[in-house]
Amino acid sequence: MIQALSYIGFTSPNAEQWLQFAPEILGLEVAPRGPEGAVRLRVDDAPYRITIHSGKTDELAYLGWQTAGPAALDGSVAALKSRGIEVHEADRDLIALRPVTDLAWFIDPFGIRHELSWGLGTRPGSFRPGRPLSGFVTGRGGLGHVVLFVPDLDQAQDFYDTLGFRLSDRVEAGISLRFFHCNTRHHTIALAATPGRVGMHHLMLEVKSLDDVGAALDLCNQRGIPLAMGLGRHTNDLMTSFYVRTPSGFEIEYGWGGRMIEDEANWDIRTYDSGSIWGHKVPETAPRPGLLRPFKAGV
Ligand SMILES: [Fe+2]
Repeated sequence: MIQALSYIGFTSPNAEQWLQFAPEILGLEVAPRGPEGAVRLRVDDAPYRITIHSGKTDELAYLGWQTAGPAALDGSVAALKSRGIEVHEADRDLIALRPVTDLAWFIDPFGIRHELSWGLGTRPGSFRPGRPLSGFVTGRGGLGHVVLFVPDLDQAQDFYDTLGFRLSDRVEAGISLRFFHCNTRHHTIALAATPGRVGMHHLMLEVKSLDDVGAALDLCNQRGIPLAMGLGRHTNDLMTSFYVRTPSGFEIEYGWGGRMIEDEANWDIRTYDSGSIWGHKVPETAPRPGLLRPFKAGV
């Protein structure tokens, strides 16, 4: 079963812009480039967790999931194969392009590529943020969370159930959202219903201090970097955050203070009628979701 979001990759014609955006705005560390020239970004003591590959269009290239080790990876592969999903073993060339020891990959029913992996290495004390920063909340909770657009919520929930995700709660606020956890982080993946379309909305990175959120917000405002949503606090995971448009068409939710699910047995699965307690206002000039495509079944 999956333990956490380990790493993530994108393709983009604007990969080079991340060399400035990532350290100066987000406080990420730029790692040495990959052998194929990709921009690799660090959020903690792992070698890198975010990769921007040069490409003609902005796309979510893959989601890298952490499993406990070779046996856990095999177990997840078997569960997927029993559902008729074709899973591919990685060769040496592919492993050289990822921060892990081994992985297997597959394409989900909506066309999104997933990689099941183990062996994300760390060098304790090696992370150097790109600007003064208290650091990112990772560890057992993994890189953060992602929110995907899916054409069919029930089908998607069924699929993520196979990977071991458990429902945290729902939001019904004009759009239907379901949130899922695989560790103590309130959600590692959330799904938004967009009939006929598929894509990705945001990657959430959680910092250790509210002041780090404020400093990032000041930088965005000073430099005129477009926000998708202003500062606010979510109803369900209680994250205080804002959403900034990256150079590659998706949003980063930059947040602090996310709730944890410590006592799963007594967790109450609720449905909220609003996504936010306060704030998260969408500016009139907010960019439209950049990674949202028409979905055709079987393509
Ligand atoms: Fe989020």
